[in-house]
This record gives sequence, C-alpha cells and structure tokens, in this order.
Amino acid sequence: MSPTILAIESSCDDTSAAVIKDGKILANIVATQAVHEKYGGVVPELASRAHEQNIIPVVSQALLTANITKSELNAVAFTRGPGLLGALLVGCSFAKSFALGLNIPVIEVNHMQAHILAHFIDEPKPNFPFLCLTVSGGHTQIVLVKNYLEMQVLGQTTDDAVGEAFDKSAKLLGLPYPGGPMLDRLAQTGNPNAYTFPIVNMPNYDFSFSGIKTSILNFIKNNTQANPNFIQEHLPDICASIQQALIQTLMKKLVSAAKETNIKEIAIAGGVSANSGLRQTVQDYAKKYQWQTYIPAFQYCTDNAAMIAMTAHFKYLAGEFTNQYASPDPRLKI
Ligand code: KG4
Ligand code: ZN
Repeated sequence: MSPTILAIESSCDDTSAAVIKDGKILANIVATQAVHEKYGGVVPELASRAHEQNIIPVVSQALLTANITKSELNAVAFTRGPGLLGALLVGCSFAKSFALGLNIPVIEVNHMQAHILAHFIDEPKPNFPFLCLTVSGGHTQIVLVKNYLEMQVLGQTTDDAVGEAFDKSAKLLGLPYPGGPMLDRLAQTGNPNAYTFPIVNMPNYDFSFSGIKTSILNFIKNNTQANPNFIQEHLPDICASIQQALIQTLMKKLVSAAKETNIKEIAIAGGVSANSGLRQTVQDYAKKYQWQTYIPAFQYCTDNAAMIAMTAHFKYLAGEFTNQYASPDPRLKI
C-alpha cells in the first residue's frame, strides 16, 4: 500500500510540515524563525518557543495545500534527532499526540538520513551504492549509502561543522547571521586565489574546521593594523578565498573516498549544498573524474519536512514504526 503521511521537522530553527502521498510530495511548508537574527546565532530556548507557536499553523497549511484531510492520513512522522533537544521535543510531542488522536502509527526519522533521502523527491535519483557529502550547520559527513535505510558514515568532522565554519567566518567579517548564504553571495564577485587560508588535512575521511576561525582572526589583525578599512575594501576577495579553502577541504576527502570505494555516483546534501561554489566545484569534478553527480533543488538543501516525509515513506514501506514512548535523541547517529 502507498501511504499518505504527515511529516514534521523541528530540529533547529525551521518549523516545517509536509504531506507525502504515494511517494509524491504534495505540500512542504517551512516557517523560518527570524527571532535569532539579532543574537547572531540560534538561541535554543527561543527556537523551542517559536516551534510551539508555528507548529499548528504550519501543519494546517500543509494539509490545506495538499488537499488532504486528517482522516486520509496513514501515519505521522517526526525528526527524532540529531538536533536541539527542546526544539525536537515540540515536533515529537506534536506528532505523537496527533497520531494518538487519529489512532495511526508514528514514524521516527533521522535528520541526517533525511537530508540524504531528499535526493529521492525529484529526478534524477542516485543509484545505489552512492556517496553523499552531507554538509549542514551541525554536521559534515561522507556517507556510503547502500540502500534507502542502510547507510555507513565513512568520515566526519571532529569539531565544527562546515556550515558553522561558514557562519563563524561571516560573523568575524561583520556579516549578519546567518552568514553562510551572504558569504556565498559576496564570494561570487571575488577572487578565490586572492588570499590563502589553511586546508587542514585530517586522517582518513575526517574533517576539522575549528582552525579556520583563528586563521581568519590573525588575518584580520595583521591586515587591519596598516589599513583599518581593509575588510570592507576587500570583502568579496576575502569571502571567495575563505569559501575556496572550505570547499577544497571537503573535496579532497570526497575525491579520496570516491577513489577508494570506486564509486562514481556522488551526491551532496544539507544546508551548505546550497552554496554556489560547492555546487559548481562538484560539477567541475564530475567532468574530471567521470562522476554522476546529484545536487538537490535549493528548497531541499536547507531544513524542510519534505525530506522527513520522503524518509518516512521508505520506513512505512519497510514496516519501521515507532511507538508512543519514543523520545528525541539530540545526538542520534546514522
Ligand atoms: O541543513 P541546514 O539548513 O540546518 C542544519 O541541519 O544545520 O544547514 C544550515 C547551514 C547554516 O550553517 C547555513 O549558513 C548554511 O547551511 N548555508 C550555507 C548556504 N546556505 C545555507 N552555507 C554556505 N553557502 C550557502 N549558500
Ligand atoms: Zn539539516
């Protein structure tokens, strides 16, 4: 049977609800939380409160857009983790209550698995096995995807996520939160070879991004001593150079993982896969290494419930349900 599922995403600062029917997304509503902008980062307590306020309107809007009534739903899915505990609790409690009221099953979804399975929403879909570089504000992983629900993390960050590195770099340059997309925009008119920032080489397929902050701080200190307006005058070049260092760090490991596993089906996923430089580099490498590459549509790069719904669809078909005792796990692993 092909199910109709309502899915909820509330792991960080986006409240989202989606409806999937027969494997097709009928609605994907996302409410982003502007409240964090003035703090320069996500404030967990404020995120939970905003989810609480947003969740009912977002779910109503999703059902309305999908033209689906509650009685047509076969299951309710939610993000169990990883993410912020308080934020996850809102989605989890809502989903369980909603399912209890309708007497239908609950499906728990791993947020990182969902970022990867977002590739099955639209064509072209990757062929198994494929490698996925999952890059977000909380994670940086190279994942070997054997099947819809069978995945193995080959390597990951040992400290900051690459999205965090983008955001922290942007903050040091005085850009408003969230800095990643703005740094990307400025980088588009800059010279990526203007300045050199370090590419940290970690063992195996692991990454480290915490060092870039110190190197940017030193770079700012050294250059603003002679010219206090140095940053403002060279902003596009600085952004392009930082972006290049971050992308090269990612690509180096992705290339060796592809070589060693002999896999040429390569996907990227997560918020940072919206980065124009990364998207272009992956396409360039595809030509160089004869890869078949998969880059998600922008709306499915950053957090959304459509990817939760897609994952829930596969879990429903596999008979993987949870129960009313399920609780969030902020450190849930793939
Ligand atoms: O996947 P996501 O929406 O949330 C998490 O699960 O973390 O990813 C958010 C991250 C943020 O760090 C944001 O700055 C980054 O993705 N991001 C970008 C771009 N768009 C979003 N980073 C660089 N360039 C972009 N265009
Ligand atoms: Zn995410």
